[in-house]
Amino acid sequence: ALERTLSIIKPDAVAKNVIGEIESRFEKAGLRIVAMKMMHLSREKAEGFYAEHKERPFFKDLVDFMTSGPVVVQVLEGEDAIKANRDLMGATNPQEAEAGTIRADFAQSIDANAVHGSDSAASAEREVSYFFADDEICPRA
Ligand code: CMP
Repeated sequence: ALERTLSIIKPDAVAKNVIGEIESRFEKAGLRIVAMKMMHLSREKAEGFYAEHKERPFFKDLVDFMTSGPVVVQVLEGEDAIKANRDLMGATNPQEAEAGTIRADFAQSIDANAVHGSDSAASAEREVSYFFADDEICPRA
């Protein structure tokens, strides 16, 4: 089915100057960028985004990292976009990510892991609307 998913290029990948290379992987896989913005997340915005992880031991490090520099937030649209994006990203821990995936090629550590992608239809819906109003999304005409 045609789906939308939220993708974030994290501060480590922005600092490495590989925004374009990562976007290119999405496009080559047939996903379309239908909304995007670059921003420096506030603590409040990052904590709200990752609220489901609030009780996890890595929460503070995660928020510290995600607020350490600018990110690029985008909505990807395409056939089975949620899984397609997760396949392109590879495992959360780059040490476990398959060769050729974004995390294997660009990520350093489980915190500095280059990209985020929604993990289910429910989280995609929440995450897209967390960053974008309906009129900021530009589906193919
Ligand atoms: P992300 O997909 O953005 O969702 C939550 C993030 O927490 C995850 O990517 C990792 O960067 C980070 N993280 C740090 N430690 C862990 C862990 N032990 N398990 C899962 N995620 C972790």
